[in-house]
Amino acid sequence: MAGRLFSFPPRSRTGTVVGERAQRTCLNPKVLNRERRNRGVVRAWCIVVPRERGEEIRRRLMDLGLLHEHLRIVREGERLFLPTTERVDLGFPMEQREFGTGFVAVRSYKDVVEVPDALRRSLPTSFDVIGDIAVLKVPEELQRYREKIGLSILRWNPKIRVAVQDRGVKGERRVRSIEVIAGERRTTTVHTEYGLHYRVDLAQAYFSPRLASERKRIADRVFEGEVVADPFAGVGPFAILIAKRRRPRLVHASDVNPAAVELLGVNIGANRAARVATHEGDARHILRQIAPVDRVILDLPHTAFDYLPDAFAAIGDRGVVHMYRILERADERAAADRIRGMAAQAGMEIRDLQLHTVRAYSPTQHHVAFDVTVVRASHRADPGTSPSASRTSPTKETPTTGRRSGRTSRRSEAPGHQSRHSARRR
Ligand SMILES: C[S@@+](CC[C@H](N)C(=O)[O-])C[C@H]1O[C@@H](n2cnc3c(N)ncnc32)[C@H](O)[C@@H]1O
Repeated sequence: MAGRLFSFPPRSRTGTVVGERAQRTCLNPKVLNRERRNRGVVRAWCIVVPRERGEEIRRRLMDLGLLHEHLRIVREGERLFLPTTERVDLGFPMEQREFGTGFVAVRSYKDVVEVPDALRRSLPTSFDVIGDIAVLKVPEELQRYREKIGLSILRWNPKIRVAVQDRGVKGERRVRSIEVIAGERRTTTVHTEYGLHYRVDLAQAYFSPRLASERKRIADRVFEGEVVADPFAGVGPFAILIAKRRRPRLVHASDVNPAAVELLGVNIGANRAARVATHEGDARHILRQIAPVDRVILDLPHTAFDYLPDAFAAIGDRGVVHMYRILERADERAAADRIRGMAAQAGMEIRDLQLHTVRAYSPTQHHVAFDVTVVRASHRADPGTSPSASRTSPTKETPTTGRRSGRTSRRSEAPGHQSRHSARRR
């Protein structure tokens, strides 16, 4: 497997299809409007607006009921021609011109799904797409229509080959309870993120595409030569992105879930991420084994505090801990105070503590990251003399390379070397 990209799972010709075979007529407007039979030309009034005001004026026309929705907006350089149903004076030039017709207003699978009108409002408005799998949360009242909903999604977007319903993430391993509701009967796929390819199995190991930009944000902060610990690595999207896009000395990626570690190994091989060492086991144990490190990613939002003392203990003379939490806004200050208290207890001085909102989690809760830059109190160094001071830093973070002088043996743990802690290593 090493060094090879995956091939996608077999298509429905060989796979089992759940329920009636999805009719593969694509309903995506972009695709439909490309077809000649759906195109024609008509002459209509239009309003000519600068491109940067296009969205604002388009919405105004929609509100006024004057936008010709079945004609396509034309762009010429920096000007947009918005087709209108009649002559309108909004303070912009008007003219008549030709527009393409045949716009098919199928914007969502909801436009084609057959459910009773009374239940339409309960249809999921959005869903994750992981590789070629649509992952939906279907409300209780729509359970009897779940197959129809799934088939509508497959029909609407031909790139999606499987629709599954997510019945929630469970247990310490954060594995989803998954049911295939339409398409090929599988839970495995290959997801691409920042040009890297991850094999995932939604029923065996945690993966969420929603953290993609957060993973990039963290990767962008990693300095050359760092040793990074990702003890809740899942299938490896933090670790592999860091290894491939930055120049760390080593990224230790581990997880307690053997299925996740197996996929992690596959993904390291497929992406040729040589600077990742994998381990299987509890984060606390692994952090103790691989210390000292320069950076720890604590991506276990519901219980991250339990592991913060271990993360601080694993940091060398100085470093950064990224800790994720799900929090009410009102609890942010208390969480920051708790981090300060725990750092002091661990003999660490906080040099910088930043809070970053990753995404909304529920109407009142947010998924947040605390970026905690610490210095070991007994090793306080003048920042001007630290090796990191000469590096170009995108943030205030100033991690050193840890206890480098004491890490001669770690140097010998060059990628590819079998570490004594490493249950699986590629
Ligand atoms: C929220 S997921 C994060 C996955 C990964 N960082 C990502 O971005 O996809 C948390 C992961 O931590 C693992 N995990 C939970 N408790 C653990 C523990 N005590 N030690 C090590 N891994 C653990 C789970 O198996 C799961 O894969």
